[in-house]
Amino acid sequence: MDQAERLRELAKEKKKNSVEIIAVTSGKGGVGKTSISVNLGIAFAISGRKVLIVDADLGLSNVNIIAGVVPPPRYNLFHFIKGEKEIKDIIAEGPCGIKLITGAIGISTLANLSPKKRIEFIEGLSSLNSICDMIFIDTSAGLSGKVMSFILSSDKVLLITTPEPTAIADAYGIIKAVSFKTKDLDIRLIVNKVKNAEEGERVANRIIEIAGQFLGMRVGKLGVILDDHVVCDSVHQQTPFFLSHPKSKASQCIYNLRNVLADIPTSDNNEGIGGFLKRLFRTEREYMEFARDEG
Ligand SMILES: Nc1ncnc2c1ncn2[C@@H]1O[C@H](COP(=O)(O)OP(=O)(O)OP(=O)(O)O)[C@@H](O)[C@H]1O
Ligand SMILES: [Mg+2]
Repeated sequence: MDQAERLRELAKEKKKNSVEIIAVTSGKGGVGKTSISVNLGIAFAISGRKVLIVDADLGLSNVNIIAGVVPPPRYNLFHFIKGEKEIKDIIAEGPCGIKLITGAIGISTLANLSPKKRIEFIEGLSSLNSICDMIFIDTSAGLSGKVMSFILSSDKVLLITTPEPTAIADAYGIIKAVSFKTKDLDIRLIVNKVKNAEEGERVANRIIEIAGQFLGMRVGKLGVILDDHVVCDSVHQQTPFFLSHPKSKASQCIYNLRNVLADIPTSDNNEGIGGFLKRLFRTEREYMEFARDEG
């Protein structure tokens, strides 16, 4: 079976077992992607979902610190891609049963795989279908090709900003970059570190309005997270605030976000990990062609 055939098979299998892949991203760094991925992931795990978090920010890999995974995972996706480790060996256990994988697979890595290795890679990753039903990908900030391909390949995108003008401008930059490729991606805004809910609403509505007006993009609103010192305190304590401070303002916000996200129906087109990989390979091909055309 060739790669395309195998991906089609997996897409069919997804009906039985549909894993939702959610990219957590931002234009500007330091706006709360990792805190949100971990604490929202835990909130879902507590409500019975099987959650996997992929720490795809290799440069500043720190999901394990915020999630309190000690010792940190020894092996990452590259050990798996190189065939040195099996997929089960690179999965670390976090609080409340969440699972953690470190490593960003991207355009150049995939392009360099032999067809046989690609199939092995697809098979290995697809085995994750049985251990999780939600995957949060904590991406690095900004507009690199790797981040864009994760965003464009996911089922949903949580786009994080703060009320800071630079963060808003950079979030808009992400929506703009997506708009060149597709108008159909399910993007939901989270405005983090807000003084009050009104401030967050205002920021979200403004972004949604200009994205609609100037880019023809329909962007949704997931909600806000109040600025709360427990977020920072719990990073120092290496315990997710949703667990250590369940009654805090920030935890209440995470709880609300979980409820809103849980109520959004999964798209009929959701094809789980097979669909994600299919789109990732397609995006990769487009970038390669673009790079070739550009010389
Ligand atoms: N709601 C909040 N209230 C107060 N501080 C917050 C809040 N959310 C995040 N922070 C703080 O902001 C800093 C950045 O958060 P975090 O590491 O989650 O951002 P990030 O987007 O993942 O950053 P990077 O782009 O570097 O990966 C941390 O010190 C964190 O404690
Ligand atoms: Mg981060």
